[in-house]
Amino acid sequence: MQVTNVTAVVLAAGSGRRVGSDIPKQFLDLGGKPMIFRCLDVFEACPMVQAVVVALPAGDESRRPDLSGHTKVTSVVAGGQTRQASLGKALSHLPRSAGTVLVHDAARPLVDQPLILSLLAALDGCDGAIPAIPLEDTVKRVAEDRTVESEVDREGIWRVQTPQVFRRAALEDSLAKAVESGLESTDCSQMLTRAGYTVRVVEGDPLNFKVTRAADLWLAEQILLSRREEE
Ligand code: CTP
Ligand code: MG
Repeated sequence: MQVTNVTAVVLAAGSGRRVGSDIPKQFLDLGGKPMIFRCLDVFEACPMVQAVVVALPAGDESRRPDLSGHTKVTSVVAGGQTRQASLGKALSHLPRSAGTVLVHDAARPLVDQPLILSLLAALDGCDGAIPAIPLEDTVKRVAEDRTVESEVDREGIWRVQTPQVFRRAALEDSLAKAVESGLESTDCSQMLTRAGYTVRVVEGDPLNFKVTRAADLWLAEQILLSRREEE
């Protein structure tokens, strides 16, 4: 099956509580532009991506950055209470022609085109493709009182990232089934595997980390700074 008509869904409707800033992290300046522009610029430059649907926090529109410079953005929608709810709202605004959906967290600003291309190539013969990195640290189960409960064998355990790419019909069907059974997930591919679809894993990029805490913001800034010095 050919990969055609890719629409990117950018999830940017969270509040960024753990970063601890008074504006949502995806709107913070990161190396001279709002963090959300980092992934939007990559999608804008990627010939495989035809359209972009963005989910932003409901309410307070004055704090939103101006997305009019990003010509592939076809819809800006108000997100929901959870990531999955924001995804649902974005999916209801997909262009009719979209056959493949790429879902990305705006909180991963360092995504690049080679990763997108390897994901789309991996979609051949399956319903979804996701980037992930094998766990390198030792893993332990820790009790509530902060004593070590047990060791977890890390063999075959991978950390999952976005972007994740899916056949549109498989993603829509999986989301409908998750909603029907009252299941909530922060990872789209989990919905697909639960519904019996096949999801392939490609090697992720360690620099494509999620900005979750203030230290991640600092790290992303340092990386962008060093790239600029290299130019
Ligand atoms: N997200 C969303 N809608 C929500 C919650 C999250 O679109 N209701 C998006 C975030 O904007 C982010 C991505 O999902 O790009 C991953 O979520 P996370 O890193 O948890 O971001 P936040 O929920 O904003 O941060 P926190 O959990 O620290 O509040
Ligand atoms: Mg969150």
